[in-house]
Amino acid sequence: MKIGVLTSGGDAPGMNAAIRAVVRAGILYGHKIYGIKDGYAGLINDDMILLTSHSVSGMLSKGGTFLGTSRSSEFFEEASRIVAAENLKKRGIEALVAIGGDGTYRGAMEIAKLGVKTIGLPGTIDNDIAGTDFTIGFHTAVETIVDAIDKLRDTSNSHQRCSIVETMGRKCGDLALFAGICGGAEFIITPENPMEKELMFKRLKEHKEQGRRHAIVVITEKITDPFALAQEITEKAGFASRATVLGYIQRGGSPCPEDRILGSRMGTYAVELLNDGIYGVCVGVRDSRMVYLPFANVVGQSRPKNEMYKLVKKVS
Ligand code: F6P
Repeated sequence: MKIGVLTSGGDAPGMNAAIRAVVRAGILYGHKIYGIKDGYAGLINDDMILLTSHSVSGMLSKGGTFLGTSRSSEFFEEASRIVAAENLKKRGIEALVAIGGDGTYRGAMEIAKLGVKTIGLPGTIDNDIAGTDFTIGFHTAVETIVDAIDKLRDTSNSHQRCSIVETMGRKCGDLALFAGICGGAEFIITPENPMEKELMFKRLKEHKEQGRRHAIVVITEKITDPFALAQEITEKAGFASRATVLGYIQRGGSPCPEDRILGSRMGTYAVELLNDGIYGVCVGVRDSRMVYLPFANVVGQSRPKNEMYKLVKKVS
């Protein structure tokens, strides 16, 4: 079989490990693997290359995605998708492994309607995909955020300040939740755990009065302006505050072992599903086991509130 592989949407550490696994496992099972450049844009522009085992050598430790990625608005148009499907067909590529988030899965569902056998792998730092406990890239991003929190605590302690740390995550608070717990944050504010402003001011005031020299508030992006919040805490809690927006730093860096393993397992599993004639599905990890679900059960679905929220009030 000829199988195409692409990465789409926001990049995530471990995407290269997943591509590598598709290539290496694919070749082992006698398939030919084509790397599609820059996500769905490469499908439309017919930008694809035959990958060899050698092409993915040294990729496990590399952050980002060596195939490139994009958020292709053109792919939303049916005419472009028809061109994309034709480009695959003319090379005899019958299957496509698409690595990315919700938008990537939507694209995969659409191209499946044109006869392409698609498999989705969850690649995003946000951990916001239903049907999987973890997405490729999430653990590395948590490590990066925890490292930042540790550093911010050092300087906050020196200056007797409260640090507001804004993480990515879109509508999912897992990055803030996991990193906040690992970094010992006093407050974790996420879409699933809304801000109780007055209570927070009161507690921070008490902390200050008890002589605590530092505090950390971790907050998911787009909830509020972190700089305005820092100003408010300074004024209302009497705790001098500063805000740090971590931004794209969170998406870079060499993948941690969990993401290298997850990418390797999921990439291999994608090929094995195709071997078994299974497609139109996306892969997940549930209780450490590989699973698959139809795209329709996952796209647009939100995940249940994370169990870890039970810890927040107990350990912060
Ligand atoms: O989907 C991953 C993500 O990093 C989100 O957390 C963030 O909101 C978004 O991508 C940023 O996207 P862009 O790279 O298009 O600015």
